Amino acid sequence: MIITIDGPLGVGKSSVAKEVAKRLGFTYIDTGAMYRALALKTLKKNIDINNLENLKKLIEETDIQLIYENGSLKVLLDGEDVSEEIRKEEVSKRASEIATIKEVRDYMVNLQRKFGEKYKNIVIEGRDTGTVIFPDAELKIFLTAPVEVRIERRYKQLLEKGFNIDYEKFVKNFMEREVRDKTREINPLRPAEDSVIVDTGNMSFEEVINKILILAKERM
Ligand code: DC
Repeated sequence: MIITIDGPLGVGKSSVAKEVAKRLGFTYIDTGAMYRALALKTLKKNIDINNLENLKKLIEETDIQLIYENGSLKVLLDGEDVSEEIRKEEVSKRASEIATIKEVRDYMVNLQRKFGEKYKNIVIEGRDTGTVIFPDAELKIFLTAPVEVRIERRYKQLLEKGFNIDYEKFVKNFMEREVRDKTREINPLRPAEDSVIVDTGNMSFEEVINKILILAKERM
């Protein structure tokens, strides 16, 4: 069974997807983490992402693995654990930029489908999981919440992780990414037609999880 969880920035996709996977005993796949891993590599190698040839070469030389164990996800970039590093603001920004490039998306979609085949029962989270990667998924969830709520949630989450961030810069970055994700030409953020839209603005975390579990069980 494939459950896709999609939605805008900061809506809580990761926390929700992780918890649903845990309760169902499914494998959790975070597609954003894969974009982030590649983004980190372009930063480390100082690659000009507008130079398509260099970027293609970089992709060919890149190995991204997701290891899901005991409820937590490890992201390996060329064998190195980058799970923490990919959460930095500069990586978020770069990930959003490279996600607009067709070659990058093609590579990711391919890789993500392979993970799906390998693990069978999955909760896969990310922007185009229900529309492009797994259009035949048994359950597609699209989470929404007003932008102010999402900004606060994400900010709190980063603070809890111990990041020291400038609020104004963070909001500016957030809004830039929001616009880029929604307006990019390839696979802009939009709910799949057959997705269930869950407005989490006034719901507790537990309420969101329960709602999704009920929907999942109906489809098993
Ligand atoms: O969900 P996230 O913030 O970790 O994702 C990082 C960036 O990657 C985000 O700006 C959008 C992009 N992304 C995407 O375009 N498609 C996906 N399936 C997942 C992420």
